[in-house]
Amino acid sequence: MADPNDSDGDGISGVPNWITIPSYINPENALTQNGKYIGRFGKKAAAINLLHQTVNAYNQDMGITSTFNPIDVYTNEEIDPEVANVTVNDLVFYLKTLKAPIQRNQNDTEVIHGRNVFEQINCTGCHKSNLTTGYSPITGLSFKSFSPYTDMLLHDMGSGLDDGYTEGIAKTYEWRTPPLWGLGLSANSQGGQYFLMHDGRARSIEQAISMHGGEATGSRTAFNSLSQADKNAVLKFLKSL
Ligand code: HEC
Repeated sequence: MADPNDSDGDGISGVPNWITIPSYINPENALTQNGKYIGRFGKKAAAINLLHQTVNAYNQDMGITSTFNPIDVYTNEEIDPEVANVTVNDLVFYLKTLKAPIQRNQNDTEVIHGRNVFEQINCTGCHKSNLTTGYSPITGLSFKSFSPYTDMLLHDMGSGLDDGYTEGIAKTYEWRTPPLWGLGLSANSQGGQYFLMHDGRARSIEQAISMHGGEATGSRTAFNSLSQADKNAVLKFLKSL
């Protein structure tokens, strides 16, 4: 789905974050290019899989070392692992097998109309609705089609969303398309309030859309030009996810 030179001329040029992976990761049959792999997890797609993401979170967010990453973030020195491998692996297995939320009101005519409009104004240029998993030793995850509403690629989202930080080759204004599954349930799990976009600055879905710049400018403009009824249908569809 990457289109670095925007060959199809739709103004959207997603690129993978090609990352160097740590030696404890077995990339199995993942695609590789010049020794790098496609990052998929994290706001700037800097982790290849859930083990990588989890080990980094233990180490960098919680200051907990493991045999995977034994370097203490405070002293920069190698110390004895503070969490057992079995715990890390169990946590990764738990995350891998968490069920994706099931869409509500799938047969509601306004929701169906909203989904069509979402496609017409090319929100699906980044928020891809249909992907298929590759092989997994967990049967329930192997070769399954699923609807995450992401392409897992990095996009230039404009200067308004520039956070001044890079991760790997991801630039300061580039973000991985976030999955939209579970969007309609997220407010409920956060005290009835939405906190959208990478730093939670958008307090509603409309606000999140209005902050789309860069490669998403075309889609934002198209959304703004919709009739109120079409806008409402798109929002109802997004809340059904
Ligand atoms: C060029 C790619 C692209 C297009 C086109 C696009 N988006 Fe996004 N969208 C993103 C990225 C990247 C983010 C995350 C930006 C950030 O975190 O600052 C995002 C964030 C969002 C969010 C917030 C999600 C969250 O969990 O915080 C919503 C809702 C959303 N988009 C809906 C839409 C809708 C509706 C459209 C069509 C009008 C659209 N997007 C078009 C790339 C895109």
